[in-house]
Amino acid sequence: MSGKILRGRVLTFVSEPTGPDDHASYRYIEDGAVVIDAGRIVSVGEWNDALKLAAPKAEVIDHRPGLIVPGFIDTHIHYPQMQVIGSYAKDLLEWLNTYTFIEEQRFADASHAARIASAFCDELVRYGTTTAAVYCTVHPQSAEAFFAEAQRRDMRMIAGKVMMDRNAPEALCDTPQRGYDETVALLEKWDGVGRLSYAITPRFALTSTQEQMEMSQDLVRRFPDAYVQTHVNESIGEIEFARELYPNMIDYLGIYEHYGLLGPKTLLGHCIHMNDREIAAMSETGTVAVFCPTSNLFIGSGLFDRARMMAGNVRIGVATDVGGGTSFSMLRTLDEGYKVLQLGGQRLSPIESFFMMTLGNARALSLEHTIGVLEPGAEADIVVLDAHALPHMALKMERVETLSEELFLLQTCGDDRVVAETYVAGEAAKARLN
Ligand code: GUN
Ligand code: ZN
Repeated sequence: MSGKILRGRVLTFVSEPTGPDDHASYRYIEDGAVVIDAGRIVSVGEWNDALKLAAPKAEVIDHRPGLIVPGFIDTHIHYPQMQVIGSYAKDLLEWLNTYTFIEEQRFADASHAARIASAFCDELVRYGTTTAAVYCTVHPQSAEAFFAEAQRRDMRMIAGKVMMDRNAPEALCDTPQRGYDETVALLEKWDGVGRLSYAITPRFALTSTQEQMEMSQDLVRRFPDAYVQTHVNESIGEIEFARELYPNMIDYLGIYEHYGLLGPKTLLGHCIHMNDREIAAMSETGTVAVFCPTSNLFIGSGLFDRARMMAGNVRIGVATDVGGGTSFSMLRTLDEGYKVLQLGGQRLSPIESFFMMTLGNARALSLEHTIGVLEPGAEADIVVLDAHALPHMALKMERVETLSEELFLLQTCGDDRVVAETYVAGEAAKARLN
């Protein structure tokens, strides 16, 4: 075997933590080793020289005292919105109309799409994110550019071109038939290539006619294993508009339900203003609610109610939602998530946070055992964290006594600078960035 052995402090989850002291939910090895070969994890255990003897040709990379964890997973992000981040608006609809729907028109140009797709993958790697569920624009060339870039880097990515045929500038609208045909062509070309998967992506009910929603349903029937991603119940103005556009539907979620779009591979961004019926329908169908804290705070959309979702047995993911979201960092995202929940009188312990950005999000994507864990057979998407990376963090570390305290410091003060290395399919990808 000629792979690699990463030496350091190893942390991986085995189950969802039931609370801050659920030490059985994770495995932590103080002097640990992760053995990698051909893009996969071969074994995880205590470091000892016997291990090196068993794999004499393997390169040993000593990350001590770094913390080796699974690569972060982002379950909702818009790659074409890199140049939208930090746009000043009253609310979601003003933000979309004033900036986002203008910016996304640039992706008609395939060379612009290629440039941004490359910059986007660079940022994910810089911040330690190795898998994301990604929205492209309405232009098929935007999805082409993204899939080609992710494939070139051998990243595990989920993406789709958005379908939208009303309430947006003409240049950003497809038609029900075009949206369908372009989705089929992209899905048949890219789904299952390397580590890529396709997500059927009607942007949200406001920008799709009923005919387009029917076509989305046809797509889901034809490709039942594909992901579906869209937005729901993000802002009050959006919900009122949805009610006007679909007066016969029982509620906002009911629109997606009516068109057969709910299910265990469906990711619904935001889910802030939910009624009890909607929560029950999410739970019954196994649909995933995606918590996007930096976006919800920045746009002023509202506070996600995690406790209510959990009580209703709804599956939960967590995501940046760049460019409504303000950071590519899952650490920054969970820090803001913590604050959102504090404001709602809810607790989010550090081990729950780190579960959410790794195995929790892998489960939300139905990819547990493939990513989000350090275990034999899993893909070698790995992040190494350094809680001493900033002088003020190093000082605080003098007072840190437990793993939970260290994780909490990483989340509260960390960003790309605490990501010492990001391994993508077993290769050190951050070191290669400019
Ligand atoms: N709803 C529909 N499209 C979008 C988008 O691009 N960002 C956010 N935050 N919400 C949306
Ligand atoms: Zn979004």
